[in-house]
Amino acid sequence: MKYKGIIFDLDGVICSTDHYHYLAWKALADRLGIYFDETINNRLRGVSRMASLDIVLERDDRAWSPEEKAAFAEEKNNTYRALLKNMSPADLSAEVRETLDALRERGLLLGIGSSSKNTKFILSQIGLGDYFDKISDGTNISRSKPDPEVFLKAAEFLGLDPADCLVVEDAKAGIQAASAAGMDSAAIGDAAGCGLATYDLERFSDLLRCVD
Ligand code: BG6
Ligand code: MG
Repeated sequence: MKYKGIIFDLDGVICSTDHYHYLAWKALADRLGIYFDETINNRLRGVSRMASLDIVLERDDRAWSPEEKAAFAEEKNNTYRALLKNMSPADLSAEVRETLDALRERGLLLGIGSSSKNTKFILSQIGLGDYFDKISDGTNISRSKPDPEVFLKAAEFLGLDPADCLVVEDAKAGIQAASAAGMDSAAIGDAAGCGLATYDLERFSDLLRCVD
């Protein structure tokens, strides 16, 4: 086996939350009279909540205080969490579930490395609340991707050397973070083709070919 563990990003890899992020940021931007669209939303992939807010506010000239910005982030998160309540095990594809099970059967440890502070809530909504061996997420890091912290913590929680871990990511910032952590990476979706990953995946189940 090339690896002992696989560390998965959550949003855009295990499940799709992009549209809910979009709707929640759009509601905030509309209320503040700030232009926001899907292209700007794509730039928020893998970026922490506060760094995302700064990107949303780029289109605005007003100077907001730290307290106002914290309130905006909370407002967005409240809208986002209300939308996440719509998620259910039906939002986990059979392909993802079967691939995860097959990887586990091969003896690999499976972890999460996500910037999101809503990781545990999302996993429980899609029926994977107790599935992963360890979770490293937005609640245990102080630096967001492309900093390697979230993946280094995931490896530490799994009890593995970084060199024995493979990261699966849909964001270029996440591929850069994996590389900075000294880990191989598999890029899917938006990140595939960025030229920085060890493997580019066309579909999630292609992962099975990367681990042999
Ligand atoms: C990442 C998403 O997984 O989590 C980003 O790709 C998001 O778009 C970030 O900003 C933080 O999420 P949360 O749930 O803590 O606001
Ligand atoms: Mg992602």
